[in-house]
Amino acid sequence: MARLRFEGFVIVSANGMLADAANVMPGTLKFDADKVFFSEGLDRVELVLHGRNSFEDQPNSARRNRIVLTRATSALARDANDPKAILWNPSGASFDDACAMAGVASGTIAVIGGPDVFAMFASRYDVFWLSQAHRLQMPEGQGVFPGVPERSPQAILTDWGLSADGSRILDGANQVTVTPWRRKS
Ligand SMILES: NC(=O)c1ccc[n+]([C@@H]2O[C@H](COP(=O)([O-])OP(=O)(O)OC[C@H]3O[C@@H](n4cnc5c(N)ncnc54)[C@H](OP(=O)(O)O)[C@@H]3O)[C@@H](O)[C@H]2O)c1
Repeated sequence: MARLRFEGFVIVSANGMLADAANVMPGTLKFDADKVFFSEGLDRVELVLHGRNSFEDQPNSARRNRIVLTRATSALARDANDPKAILWNPSGASFDDACAMAGVASGTIAVIGGPDVFAMFASRYDVFWLSQAHRLQMPEGQGVFPGVPERSPQAILTDWGLSADGSRILDGANQVTVTPWRRKS
């Protein structure tokens, strides 16, 4: 199989949360400039991968190949509700088999959450796009990766072999930035 590229995408609060205490992504963590960045990022990949509770909710969502992790299937199954989606249980089938069933053999895969799914691909990211809303604190939320908030997302990305390659301001008024964390060569 040709080499696949992996890119992670997420937006977190100042204290590293991707969802609130009820495990819901609140409106306060949604910013138009980040939505555009995220949507344009997913428009250039071959496949989107995420856990059953994550989704991108964008105009082009239905056009995208996707793999959804779930224990509702023992191995691999087609999603009856989405002709372009494969349901995947990693305990019953390999990732390569899931990609083959999705018809994706090369190109870029976007990993979009949640925390355990991000961690599962820790060793494979070429780049992880970490958006952060620096003015928003979510004290009771769900950490973006296992180990957050005891450790920062940045410390964990460093552990995964990635390093920050500059930051871009997406929304100055709300102090929202995006930082590409790239694999060290
Ligand atoms: N801020 C952001 O950018 C961002 C990004 C992503 C998600 N979120 C938010 O975070 C929340 C989702 O969090 P979540 O922890 O529930 O994440 P999730 O990974 O989307 O969903 C968890 C589910 O995925 C399946 N799954 C995960 N790991 C699996 C494994 N190893 N094997 C088989 N199935 C597996 C299971 O589905 P089954 O229960 O079907 O077995 C599990 O219940 C949502 O509110 C979402 O909107 C926010």
